[in-house]
Amino acid sequence: MAETAQLKIGDKTFELPVIEGTEGEKAIDISKLRDQTGYVTLDIGYKNTGATKSAITFLDGEQGILKYRGYPIEQLAEKSSFIEVAYLLIYGELPSAEKLKSFQYELSRHTLVHEDMKKFFDGFPSKSHPMGQLSSLVSALSAFYPESLKPSQTTEELNQSIIKMLAKMATVVSWIYKKSLGHPVIYPQNKYDYVTNFLHMTFGQRTEEVEIDPVVIDAMNKLLILHADHEQNCSASTVRIVGSSDSNIYASVSAGISALWGPLHGGANQAVIEMLEKIKEDGGDTDKWIAKAKDKNDPFRLMGFGHRVYKNFDPRARIIKKACDDILEKLGVNDEVLEIAKKLEEVALKDPYFVERKLYPNVDFYSGIIYRALGFPTDMFTVLFALGRLPGWIAQWKEMKENKEPIGRPRQIYVGATTKEYVEIANR
Ligand code: CMC
Repeated sequence: MAETAQLKIGDKTFELPVIEGTEGEKAIDISKLRDQTGYVTLDIGYKNTGATKSAITFLDGEQGILKYRGYPIEQLAEKSSFIEVAYLLIYGELPSAEKLKSFQYELSRHTLVHEDMKKFFDGFPSKSHPMGQLSSLVSALSAFYPESLKPSQTTEELNQSIIKMLAKMATVVSWIYKKSLGHPVIYPQNKYDYVTNFLHMTFGQRTEEVEIDPVVIDAMNKLLILHADHEQNCSASTVRIVGSSDSNIYASVSAGISALWGPLHGGANQAVIEMLEKIKEDGGDTDKWIAKAKDKNDPFRLMGFGHRVYKNFDPRARIIKKACDDILEKLGVNDEVLEIAKKLEEVALKDPYFVERKLYPNVDFYSGIIYRALGFPTDMFTVLFALGRLPGWIAQWKEMKENKEPIGRPRQIYVGATTKEYVEIANR
């Protein structure tokens, strides 16, 4: 017999269905609760609320497990490429060699963005944050590719929208970087795969062919894979909820980019390096900064530490920490902040404050050190997170559409003033 949960309110008992996922996670289905009882549930920050049933990513925060479509993140990070992982997330299966080739071919056919998109750059102040630019530019793509605006698309049309979104994002991100330097943009070249093309547009020059170091290509693939999806996080939930009103793919992804920007989410990778730099300039006294992080009267938090879901370790952080040592060594980079980061981690992992609250380094703790070694400026880090997360957002958006999910619309408990009589301003 199917398991149910019982809810007692006053002298009435209600039976609620229990849903079980393929990895044994259980949920009480409250979708009919209000109709049955007149009550809603309250869960500020959705700490205990499953917003959907999803077959994309599985995450066990207690065990530190992360799998995309069933494949452990450790295997994908070691053996796969970003574009193969993007295919896996979006279409549900690892591609055959032929399918991967045609996916790559389709992507390379759509990497150019409309020339008029360049005019937007003239409007941005030279020091404006790349995340603000990215969110605006992705939204603006909808103006140039209006065929993506149709709320109900055929499978082929939907697929074309997905390909264009993925293909043009790499170009837009690299152009933001080039424009921030005041350099001319570099056009994509079809001979390169997705990641190499991105690096070519970012670090290439118009005047000469620049050979991209294979170490940099590998490192970039790894970082992008590790960021590619993370189930119902703040930005993915934003993408799904915006898309649930039948908004187009560009508008939905642009909203996801805005959600990612915050320092509690993707913006943490920039905040971590800024914090490490500050600690270095301050003399490198890690104990002092750990004490500040623990002080409830001090707003300082140890950036890159803690996670809503991971309560033992973040498997992405483990892979990145190891990759960080390898990549810096291969590139011959000696970064003092890496030592500060390791010291902070060592002290925090022994400190009862962090142990009791199950606070561990997350994906953002070491990723910035690698981005820096690869030559990216600090304010580009979150944009790189967005580039990596894009296949995940697309997969979440596509799944939400294919499941024909209803428009996202939470309830609330109103705690404001009850009815008041309006008083003319002269009498107030
Ligand atoms: N430094 C110091 N104390 C912390 C930290 C931290 N980084 N993170 C959490 N705490 C404390 C917090 O003060 C609270 O203490 P108390 O119980 O005494 O009030 C307790 O730990 C629980 O924290 P919370 O804020 O209720 O936990 P949350 O699940 O709402 O927030 C978080 C998770 C990631 C927003 C938070 O840990 C944080 O702000 N971390 C720093 C920012 C960061 O690194 N964000 C990147 C997340 S991973 C990348 C991604 O997927 O977006």
